[in-house]
Amino acid sequence: MPAITKDDVIPIGTLAARTGVAVSAIRFYEDKGLIHAVRTGGNQRRFLRSDIRRVSFILIAQRLGLALAEIEEQLATLPEGRTPNVRDWQKISHSMRAAIDDKIKLLTRTRAKLDECIGCGCLSLQKCQLYNRDDKMGAAGATGPRLVLDT
Ligand code: FES
Repeated sequence: MPAITKDDVIPIGTLAARTGVAVSAIRFYEDKGLIHAVRTGGNQRRFLRSDIRRVSFILIAQRLGLALAEIEEQLATLPEGRTPNVRDWQKISHSMRAAIDDKIKLLTRTRAKLDECIGCGCLSLQKCQLYNRDDKMGAAGATGPRLVLDT
């Protein structure tokens, strides 16, 4: 593992400022093992500059609704002590692709159907008689807004 130089590392304040995350949150991620501080030759506690991308990934993944355990699982595939390269991130990208595609489909259906009948059984819209006459979906055992949640 190449020696860590001062150009490779940043203090926690810089990591917080650049990612827009509170220092307390950085410490929380560290406690959870999502990121790891390193010691410089001068025994200063610092983070690798590449941790900006890790923390940014955490922010994106949280916005996508991933639980901390899922985020931890993804970040655990990245190498420790060196800057992850494009191949390292491609592994994560590939493993998350199906979940992201599902979210895109759900968001697209939601955008398309939210002002129409969503098949929930309320029969409160005129189009309900078209798409879910007399709540035929409920009669068939469906629960929830099937016209949006069903893939
Ligand atoms: S919106 Fe609820 S059944 Fe149509």
